[in-house]
Amino acid sequence: MLVLKVKDHEELSERAAGVIADEIRKKQDIVLGLATGETPLGVYRSLIRMHEEEGLDFSKVTTFNLDEYVGLSPTHKESYHYFMHENLFKHINMDPRNVYIPDGMVKDISAYCEWYEKKITELGGIDIQILGIGRDGHIGFNEPGSSLGSRTRIKTLSKETIEDNARFFWGVDNVPRTAITMGIQTIIEAKLIILLASGKRKAEIVRLAIEGPVSSRVPASIIQFHRKAAVIIDQEAASLLTREYSIWGEGEEIYLHL
Ligand code: GLP
Repeated sequence: MLVLKVKDHEELSERAAGVIADEIRKKQDIVLGLATGETPLGVYRSLIRMHEEEGLDFSKVTTFNLDEYVGLSPTHKESYHYFMHENLFKHINMDPRNVYIPDGMVKDISAYCEWYEKKITELGGIDIQILGIGRDGHIGFNEPGSSLGSRTRIKTLSKETIEDNARFFWGVDNVPRTAITMGIQTIIEAKLIILLASGKRKAEIVRLAIEGPVSSRVPASIIQFHRKAAVIIDQEAASLLTREYSIWGEGEEIYLHL
């Protein structure tokens, strides 16, 4: 696991987008695992810029999103379908047939989750998985206590997550209580994982995930077991780490090859 410290959210976004773009240029039909939340927004903005200014081509790229709220239709403004469309897909040349986001409206959830897993396998697995981290250590919607061997399934959201997301839903009462999420095992099978964290409010959970024991109490800590994982964090998110990690130097090339 590589810990890469950068100055701020802007640099974090540029760096992570740079790694993804390099890999897309090498392998046009790459399979990306995507996350929602505020943290990866800058990465998406950078990728859009590279598409517009440098012609970065997404026409053969496939994407799998980590999660979606149960009960929200793709047109709901807080659904992750809507988020992804607005913040990335409508600005780039993705083929809509190559976009996979869990369907929160599906009737038979467990059959659907099995299908989602099969689809990932059928397409050769995820090459690069982008992750954010919840304040309670969740990745996707794998809340504390999630089995480290879990697969795509329905999960009940933790109190902390519901509170954190209340601002998007006009209050705690309107936040969906469940979500479909890729499992921890599904995530960890990606060939390369990039976990992003920014800001002071993530500092404590970043410390636990990177320096604490690997435990289902902090699902993100599983990243310590991955052969090829990079944690890109800004100075604020890194502020409670107790060991020394060097700052990702200006112009320094750190290749995260697939
Ligand atoms: C949601 C998503 C996660 C994301 C987390 C953190 O719960 N399901 O995938 O990592 O939010 O969001 P933010 O980046 O806004 O802190």
